[in-house]
Amino acid sequence: MNPTLLQIKTVSTPNLGSLSFFEADHDIPFPIKRIYYIHGVAKNIQRGAHAHKQLKQLLFCPYGSVKIFMDDGHDKGDVVLDDPSKGLIITPCIWRDMLWLVENSVLCVAASDYYDEGDYIRDYNEFITWINR
Ligand code: TYD
Repeated sequence: MNPTLLQIKTVSTPNLGSLSFFEADHDIPFPIKRIYYIHGVAKNIQRGAHAHKQLKQLLFCPYGSVKIFMDDGHDKGDVVLDDPSKGLIITPCIWRDMLWLVENSVLCVAASDYYDEGDYIRDYNEFITWINR
């Protein structure tokens, strides 16, 4: 599968570091209704193990390194988010797992909708049934 990578716009200032930014609708193809972030995770911990029915997300890692495994039910792919200017757009119906390669990496998500447990598919067999419905 072809993951949709986004080079997050980044302004670097000599001796002062860098500033990265993106705007809903302009830089990412959906409005943002929710931001969340996962932190305080030890190395080699894996989270995720779900898909979303409708939700679109932009994942980025402002600190550390997290590997994202994706599966659309036919093909699999993975991306390492190891640079604050790297973004990964995950469209609906992608099963994902996230593996912490570096302790205390921070994984941020900009999501197209509010939290709704009903949008989750947390069982892989159910996911396969859902995509073949
Ligand atoms: P979950 O999405 O399962 O996290 P991960 O995929 O990283 O393992 O969410 C973990 C818990 O947090 C779960 O109980 C749902 C809750 N949660 C919210 O209450 N609001 C949110 O916006 C999110 C993303 C999760």
